[in-house]
Amino acid sequence: MNRDAPLVLGIETSCDETSVGIVRGDQLLANVVSSSMEQHRRFGGVVPEVAARAHVEAMPQVLQEAIDRAGVAVEEVDAIAVTAGPGLAGALMVGVGAAKGLAQALDKPLYAVNHLVGHVAVELLRSEGRELELPAVALLVSGGHTSLLLIRDLVDGVEVLGETIDDAAGEAFDKVGRVLGLSYPGGPEIDRVALAGDPDKYAFPRGLTQHKDQSTHRYNFSFSGLKTAVARWWEAHGDPSDEALIADVAASFQDAVADVLTAKAIDACTAHGVPRLVLGGGVAANSRVRALAEQRATDQGVDLRIPPLSLCTDNGAMIAVLAAELIRRGQAPSRMDTSAQSSVSAQYAQLGRGDDHRTDSLDVPPHPAETTDPPEDRPEIMDSLNRWGATSVAPDPSETGGDDQGDARKPSEDEERIDEAITGLQPTVSASATRAPTPKSPWLPNVSFSLGVLGIALSPALGVGVIPAILAVLTGHIAKAHPLARKSTVMVALVLGYLGIAVSIVVGIVAATPLVRALLVSAGFLLPEG
Ligand code: KG4
Ligand code: ZN
Repeated sequence: MNRDAPLVLGIETSCDETSVGIVRGDQLLANVVSSSMEQHRRFGGVVPEVAARAHVEAMPQVLQEAIDRAGVAVEEVDAIAVTAGPGLAGALMVGVGAAKGLAQALDKPLYAVNHLVGHVAVELLRSEGRELELPAVALLVSGGHTSLLLIRDLVDGVEVLGETIDDAAGEAFDKVGRVLGLSYPGGPEIDRVALAGDPDKYAFPRGLTQHKDQSTHRYNFSFSGLKTAVARWWEAHGDPSDEALIADVAASFQDAVADVLTAKAIDACTAHGVPRLVLGGGVAANSRVRALAEQRATDQGVDLRIPPLSLCTDNGAMIAVLAAELIRRGQAPSRMDTSAQSSVSAQYAQLGRGDDHRTDSLDVPPHPAETTDPPEDRPEIMDSLNRWGATSVAPDPSETGGDDQGDARKPSEDEERIDEAITGLQPTVSASATRAPTPKSPWLPNVSFSLGVLGIALSPALGVGVIPAILAVLTGHIAKAHPLARKSTVMVALVLGYLGIAVSIVVGIVAATPLVRALLVSAGFLLPEG
């Protein structure tokens, strides 16, 4: 071990993992992670306030355990590193506050670093075997981010090639997991059930992979249209008790995500002449993503690096080793007034640089659009990107908006409806935390519709139709409250129901008058009395 290398303690609290890592230069000494995932499970997603509170509670113990495992005295530490962004604002603040406190108390320099660059820097850890060679392309995919980076230099040469324009890949996994009735987080669950499924069974859409997307969204991602397509498909054909069906849908969805992620990542490598690809983030644990990445990397002669899972997901070691690299390069520490920045571009490895006040306004707009030429000369990539088409169960892209939208695109009405359906069941923190989601049945609109038809059909028969018509209206209104209910079916059912009631009542009233009765009898609508 190089005793001259700086001993750095790194703190990571950008999402739901409280982590402290300790490195000496590029040598990993300790990496302790405590996750608050269990506390978020019942909400079906990370609740920022819960995450922040969990960081406060976990920090002292995680810190102590990291110091114990590293076998160092805290006074020996040369620098304190911390994730300053991007991430959840409240969660980041806990880490930044803790790091500043330690730096002040121990009189050590503070290095506020970029979480995304940390995911790549983890490859510097010598315990990983091979040295990180640059340039490299990095694909970072987690519940919070989906970024494709070109790394020419870790400190000064990170270029954002593309990002998601809507949902992060892990977020899509979690939401689709919820649609399929799997527990949170959906990613590992989908990975597990997909093992028994057929990835080619359903051709779900591959967002931003059409030829027209190549000019502006070649390296961007969109998973919202895919999520909506799966939810819509499930709404129409799903059966929560059919495990084989769940497996096929999970496998087909997973394949769609893996296909797009790996095709764009390998495309970035070959288009930039960079034969190295680094994967990072929780989704890099996905078996299909790994398999497809390995296969395509081998095909294209790209050296693929995937850190072990403990260093793939959020951790303090990656933050510590990035700071150690900054120190090795002679970079000045961050200012003590550096604040947490929830949205910050990966192009800034260090935040709050003492000599650099740019970082005061690092809340960056979406990255510049990609302008390199499309990969027409790469049939294998184009072939994969264009796979969905004739056999696709995809909704019309113009309906879901998932395929051809600009950076600041608005979700379509259907996407909002699906999103509401998936996330609307999550109680907010202020609501009762233990409230169970109300089960609602997707078949209700169809029942309502059938009753409406029955009501109309029977309504001339002396108002008999009033009963199914009233039932049609009642069930229609219940179905209307269901976010996954197809609006058109509910509307038609309600119109039929009200019409049935109206006609039944009118027929009932007029039939009571002798003349109309006689007319109705002669028209065959009523049986003659007696
Ligand atoms: O990096 P991470 O642990 O935390 C952050 O989001 O920052 O990533 C968590 C995400 C979740 O969305 C989870 O569903 C996803 O990674 N994930 C997976 C798998 N394991 C975790 N997604 C797909 N397949 C997996 N095996
Ligand atoms: Zn991360």
